[in-house]
Amino acid sequence: MSAEIINGKDLAQEIRTNMKAEVNELINEGITPHLTVVLVGDNPASKSYVRGKEKAAKEVGISSSLIELPSTASEAELLDVIQKLNGEPSVHGILVQLPLPNQISEQKVIETIDPSKDVDGFHPVNIGRMMIGEDSFLPCTPYGIITMLKSRDIKIEGKHAVIIGRSNIVGKPVGQLLLNENATVTYCHSRTKDLKEHTLQADILIAAIGKADAITSDYVKEGAVVIDVGINRLENGSLTGDVDFDSASKKASYITPVPKGVGPMTIAMLLKNTVKAAKGLAV
Ligand code: GUN
Repeated sequence: MSAEIINGKDLAQEIRTNMKAEVNELINEGITPHLTVVLVGDNPASKSYVRGKEKAAKEVGISSSLIELPSTASEAELLDVIQKLNGEPSVHGILVQLPLPNQISEQKVIETIDPSKDVDGFHPVNIGRMMIGEDSFLPCTPYGIITMLKSRDIKIEGKHAVIIGRSNIVGKPVGQLLLNENATVTYCHSRTKDLKEHTLQADILIAAIGKADAITSDYVKEGAVVIDVGINRLENGSLTGDVDFDSASKKASYITPVPKGVGPMTIAMLLKNTVKAAKGLAV
């Protein structure tokens, strides 16, 4: 079998195009959705992600601003910036780009963001609401993955989804969203014994490990749907996922590429969450 490719770049473009009318309607009502991004330090990958988010926001008519703090900024300084943004009515969404320098607690920062402006969906209030199936801001990468599956009418209910990775940003929440869609979910991680034994049972396999090309066809069941969340930069500068695309696509029924896969979907979902925040729909 040769897998069908789910192109996240094209799907994200379609979503952004459809979003423009919704944003225009809001603007006509006097509400311009506004996203404020906070960037601490000068991590080149973070800078590049932030630029991508600002560009995508602009394209759909969402206004955005960037607050940059030096890598030496204290936790108190950052919390103060967030509290001011929480109190600013024209700011609908707040995103603090991760990772943060060691002197700052990421969890403290996440918990300081007003849950109704938490367009990343990382605040425990939003995570908790997602767990019990209530309306909330969904974490953008998991939300993007579910949207990719639904875009191809891939059945989730009753399927066995195996997640490799248990981060708070991707692994844990994507498993929860799949469970909410009535999948049977298995989480694998660095301490899992005999990874293959689990992945070979997956109807839907999600790789979020951060290890280039680690998942070869040996790990993939014939006909499985393979979602690659990895973004790994090789020494030659090119990007590759956690899945060995050429080998895995010989067995998968659907597969997402890297680049042009999950990455652009994450940004599209951030924009969706920002519009939702501007409409005052969540929490
Ligand atoms: N760093 C890597 N991915 C993300 C994300 O989705 N949101 C934020 N805030 N930081 C990130």
